[in-house]
Amino acid sequence: MKLWALSDLHLTLATPSKAMHVFGEVWRDHERHIAEAWHRLVAPEDVVLVPGDISWASRLEDALTDLEYLHRMPGTKVILEGNHERWWQSVGEVRQNLPPSIRALSADHLEIEDWLVFGTRLWEHEEVAVDDLIAWNRMSDKRPDTRTDQDRERNEKIYARELARLDRCIQALPNRPWLKRVCMTHYPPLGRDLAETRASRLIESSGAGICVFGHLHSIKPQLQPPRADLMGTIRGVRYVLASCDYRKMEPILLG
Ligand SMILES: [Fe+2]
Ligand SMILES: [Fe+2]
Repeated sequence: MKLWALSDLHLTLATPSKAMHVFGEVWRDHERHIAEAWHRLVAPEDVVLVPGDISWASRLEDALTDLEYLHRMPGTKVILEGNHERWWQSVGEVRQNLPPSIRALSADHLEIEDWLVFGTRLWEHEEVAVDDLIAWNRMSDKRPDTRTDQDRERNEKIYARELARLDRCIQALPNRPWLKRVCMTHYPPLGRDLAETRASRLIESSGAGICVFGHLHSIKPQLQPPRADLMGTIRGVRYVLASCDYRKMEPILLG
């Protein structure tokens, strides 16, 4: 069994009016490119981690169209809530409706063969220095130079709450030293300088050897593979940006 990741699929099968290529040519027909790469690389016994921003749908009944697409891809998928998951009201409701090959995480963990997978969404925060990685364009999320003190206060509150959830999730991990630990977050837990943050300290104390995340899009061309491979390995953890535009729609092998 191999472990893969591909994040931020931003599927539009349920919302065809949402044209993703307005965010860049890499997104044109992205569902077709994802399906081609996924079928080429991933075997039915493999596991693919999908840490958030899965579907543009607003309601769970619509998101099921996108989840069925994901279900048709080979392997078991482990999903996590991103900031665009308007259809994800409660993990209980999501789990009741998931197709059988998809499992949902929400500040808890799953044992899959020799892996112990855990994680939570996190949030953006100025201690996570990522603004200089982005080729900002008019379609990008809120630009750093437009953030207000109110935004920063709100972010601190949500980030602190997410850190507490991650901490509780790590404290609840079972003591099974033979399992390899991997953490999923939607937001990046550290910046390109790999400097410590409150999030990275928690992850590095958890025994995880890998942390995979998404959320970042439109990375500057000079930081794209093969010239760079964000973020890097530090203090025993390999931090992997798995956003599908960064990975050219191909799942990345974690182990
Ligand atoms: Fe996101
Ligand atoms: Fe995203």
